[in-house]
Amino acid sequence: MQIKSCAVIGSGVMGSGIAAHIANAGIPVMLLDIVPQSVKDNGGDRSVVAKTAIEKMLKTDPAPFMHKKAASLVTPGNLEDDLPKLADVDWIVEAIVENPAIKADLYKKLDGVRKAGSVVSSNTSTIPLNILLQGQSERFAADFMITHFFNPPRYMRLLEVVKGEKTRDDAFQAVSAFCDVVLGKGVVRCKDTPGFIANRIGTYFMQAAVNEAIDGGLTVEEADAISGKPMGLPKTGTFGLIDLVGLDLMPLISKSLLSTLPQDDDYRRIYRDNPLAAKMIAEGYTGRKGKGGFYRQTKLPDGKRL
Ligand code: NAI
Repeated sequence: MQIKSCAVIGSGVMGSGIAAHIANAGIPVMLLDIVPQSVKDNGGDRSVVAKTAIEKMLKTDPAPFMHKKAASLVTPGNLEDDLPKLADVDWIVEAIVENPAIKADLYKKLDGVRKAGSVVSSNTSTIPLNILLQGQSERFAADFMITHFFNPPRYMRLLEVVKGEKTRDDAFQAVSAFCDVVLGKGVVRCKDTPGFIANRIGTYFMQAAVNEAIDGGLTVEEADAISGKPMGLPKTGTFGLIDLVGLDLMPLISKSLLSTLPQDDDYRRIYRDNPLAAKMIAEGYTGRKGKGGFYRQTKLPDGKRL
């Protein structure tokens, strides 16, 4: 199997970065997202979500996530109009919301159009492959695997891959080799367990740090000064990292892990609800991708930050 063309579904934090990284490597890639309800109601550009994401990739400061010359390799679109075009694609990466039911619905649509021998992979942070495959066809299971990129995909070298019992060996080898040789990733094969390796440990640590900071009355800055560099973690610290990841992803990860990890009081304590984060998410403070997060990124007209 040869990978000459790709598509990424979901142009959020990860999908846009993965598409940019593929394009940076010289491979054509389609980037598809939903059509916003406001566009359906009032008209407008039906591919606006993916187009806006591409603009953002080109403008990241200080270093753009996508080279200018790579931009022509990314074709933005929307899943409603452009689904049939996926019939030409060798590798489809799913990077939509961390919700097994929504992912399952998408996989059925993809399976209806994709060509024989193509591969579909999920960028899920936590959901085991055997759960993602529930209700899918044997054909889909043979062509499906997990490719878990890290944020931001351009700079984070690690890539976790998971092969299912039914995944074709040649497809798994081809995607793994492509990610290694063409995308320059350090590919690590993981067992099919909740959170795989990095998030089984990393999300536990992040949640524990958040809970301790809240219970102990630490400021965000104090908590990050302790939980960042001194502990060998990114200098953003825990709260800064959550801003990068997206606050809205954290409860989805907790929900996913609580439903798949062994029932255990420690997990229930660690992955408990966080009312402060829930309030922030409801008000649009989802992190860097939103109005800001624990650290406010939004610039006011006078140049100051919120
Ligand atoms: P996000 O919320 O930033 O973006 C998700 C995108 O998918 C949105 O643009 C949304 O409009 C689109 N979408 C939702 N439902 C869709 C559908 N049915 N069809 C097409 N598009 C749809 O999410 P993010 O953070 O990029 O996460 C995507 C996946 O990557 C999740 O599975 C997440 O667990 C995983 N992940 C996230 C990381 C992070 O740091 N944010 C790191 C590694 C993995």
